[in-house]
Amino acid sequence: MANIMRTNLSDWSACVPVLPKTGPRRQALYGELRRMIETGTLVPGAKLPTTRDLARRFSLSRGAAVAAYDMLVADGFAEARVGAGTYVASIVPVIETPPPPRPDPVRREPPPLPGVLGSSTADQRTLQIFRGLLNRHLAKPSIRHFHYNEPAGGQDLRDEIAAYLRAARGVQCTGDQVIITAGTQHGIDLVIRTLLKPGDPVWVEEPCYPAARAAFQAAGLRLIGVPVDADGIDPAAGIRLGPQARAAYVTPSHQFPLGVTLSMPRRLALIDWAERQGAYIIEDDYDSEFRYAGPPLTSLQGIDGQGRVIYVGTFSKALMPGLRIGYLVAPWALRDALLDTRRLADRFPPTLAEEALAEFLRDGHFAAHIKRARRRLRLARDMLVSVLSDGGLEVSTPEQGLHLVAGLPPKRFDPGLSDLALAADAARSGFGVRALSPMYLGTPARQGLIIGFSGFPAEEIAGAARRWLETNPF
Ligand SMILES: Cc1ncc(COP(=O)(O)O)c(C=O)c1O
Repeated sequence: MANIMRTNLSDWSACVPVLPKTGPRRQALYGELRRMIETGTLVPGAKLPTTRDLARRFSLSRGAAVAAYDMLVADGFAEARVGAGTYVASIVPVIETPPPPRPDPVRREPPPLPGVLGSSTADQRTLQIFRGLLNRHLAKPSIRHFHYNEPAGGQDLRDEIAAYLRAARGVQCTGDQVIITAGTQHGIDLVIRTLLKPGDPVWVEEPCYPAARAAFQAAGLRLIGVPVDADGIDPAAGIRLGPQARAAYVTPSHQFPLGVTLSMPRRLALIDWAERQGAYIIEDDYDSEFRYAGPPLTSLQGIDGQGRVIYVGTFSKALMPGLRIGYLVAPWALRDALLDTRRLADRFPPTLAEEALAEFLRDGHFAAHIKRARRRLRLARDMLVSVLSDGGLEVSTPEQGLHLVAGLPPKRFDPGLSDLALAADAARSGFGVRALSPMYLGTPARQGLIIGFSGFPAEEIAGAARRWLETNPF
């Protein structure tokens, strides 16, 4: 029978769906065979099985098979050749089946341009060491790669992260409180699904990191935008706007997007509110590795004695977003519930990357990498600041992180032109900046451009900025 098929199945009847149980058999068989001919599964000129064979395969009466073939012949889908059997007609009315509808155009992430936020670069040294570690772990694979593992991730990496956070960020934790995640976004999602339910009020910074805000909104939470000023989020305003909030999402060491640091009195006030209210603080410490001047303030988690802070960190900035490795430091009371949620989604983190990363940290490569990256980033920052200021934008030099905020100078600024229009204009000329105003939940208090100085060599970022500014966008 193989010669009648377009498919490579040896038994053609495997292609015929089960006939419906009700209704006349001959009609059902006719319908299915016709569908196979019309869709080209049975090709023109192909020999069909004998009616006896067909009846046996489908447990039908021979009369039903004969009647189905008669109908196919009468309708022009098959030809009966005397003494030779029944064949698919050499010319059949082929129905063009429309392809399933697809979105037009297909949605894709825009390609990164110099100026983009959140990207990273690694130098040859880092790549070479990481490649060596991955090779070694593949050459002498750990038994863990071949089994299902702890949802929290491997003990080695968790212990390394805990040691690093205790020393660098004053986080109070052991490796057992660390949960390896697929990055901050995954960590936030785990917290939402474990602790919050639709309608729960949650404080977010105003303006706020859009990806976190989108996750809260998608979960149906009631967002309360708490204003950020030069001292960071203002807990007193939060208490006025939503005293009963169940959680607060904050970026205290380097507010995203405005870049300010949460002052110590505000840190204490925030923790005090969370303790009194029984609320949780989600502390997103996404880029604290990159501090260019002055000592960092200790993490919120480090000054919280009551287990109200869930500390969220990532290797997306410190190493690369494509690694998809981040972590949560869970208060003891939440650890098991968070792990139960994690088990449901992706079971446990990828072991190969995890083991290479644990060694990268343990052997001091991470610290050396950060030192080198900080030097490169400081240079990129300074080049960008100078090009932007020369081009008439208001910029101050950030002391931390991988991005800066450029204000729009009012005198030269066409009042009809928004930061959104400027960002679109910049992107057209190859400079990938983001507008500040959409990062506000409510009415934007100010307009500006958020510009990254990582992910591309310093000269490329400065060059893209210069080319755009030469087009006189204001
Ligand atoms: C405020 C903030 N948090 C976290 C991240 C990192 O996210 P992830 O770890 O999911 O890659 C970013 C990246 O741009 C960010 O801006």
